[in-house]
Amino acid sequence: MKSNPLHTRRNFIHTSLKAGVALSVGSAAVSTFLTSCNNKSAANNAAILTTGFNQTPLPYAYNALEKAIDAATMEIHYSKHAAAYAKALQEAVASESVDATKTSLENVLANISKYSTKMRNNAGGHYNHELFWKSLSPTGSGKAGGKLLTAIEQQFNSFDSFKNQLTDAGKTRFGSGWAWLYVDGSKELKIGSTPNQDNPLMDASEIKGVPLLGLDVWEHAYYLRYQNKRPDYIDAWWSVVNWDYVAERYQAVIG
Ligand SMILES: [Fe+2]
Repeated sequence: MKSNPLHTRRNFIHTSLKAGVALSVGSAAVSTFLTSCNNKSAANNAAILTTGFNQTPLPYAYNALEKAIDAATMEIHYSKHAAAYAKALQEAVASESVDATKTSLENVLANISKYSTKMRNNAGGHYNHELFWKSLSPTGSGKAGGKLLTAIEQQFNSFDSFKNQLTDAGKTRFGSGWAWLYVDGSKELKIGSTPNQDNPLMDASEIKGVPLLGLDVWEHAYYLRYQNKRPDYIDAWWSVVNWDYVAERYQAVIG
């Protein structure tokens, strides 16, 4: 198996943010983030990069993303699938004695190998969907800007090349899973995918870093309108990406 440098220099870093969130992740990118959290923007960064244990309200109406995702899919996805992950996460938190007042969801994810499969599936499922809703907007600009665009162009040659690579990651993820844009331990932008409800924050994940943007390629995310045509769903999904939010996450991670 190919050696992952992040495995060999994994340092679990634990700190408390001003916002009262404890975060521990085996990634230098997160280390940088944590360092930045010691400055005056700590609370801001924590708010952008951390996710609570409870489902938060959808930031737009079910039909707001209609040009890419139909209202029925959004309603079922949010109120049934994502709600079920949040509920099962609460059960796992209770049965596995996780004190949600003293640790963060990110900390649980960073140590997910110590927990049950139920925790892995539902902590991941809840985190991934909370990120997914915030990463979308009915007024998406269609393209990143500022420092994020510069970094994307440096890393992937062009914005179109980046889109093609992330699209391919989503199209080729066998079965259910996610495609990601994330920041790795060298503070570089990377594209990858994970199975099921795994994500790059997990110590059990083959790809490691801080997620900036997640593409849900579970059939429940697109089947009503797109049936078996996952590539068509991905093509449309790009039109509703909230690049302002992705850029805020990137800035918070790189400090
Ligand atoms: Fe989903």
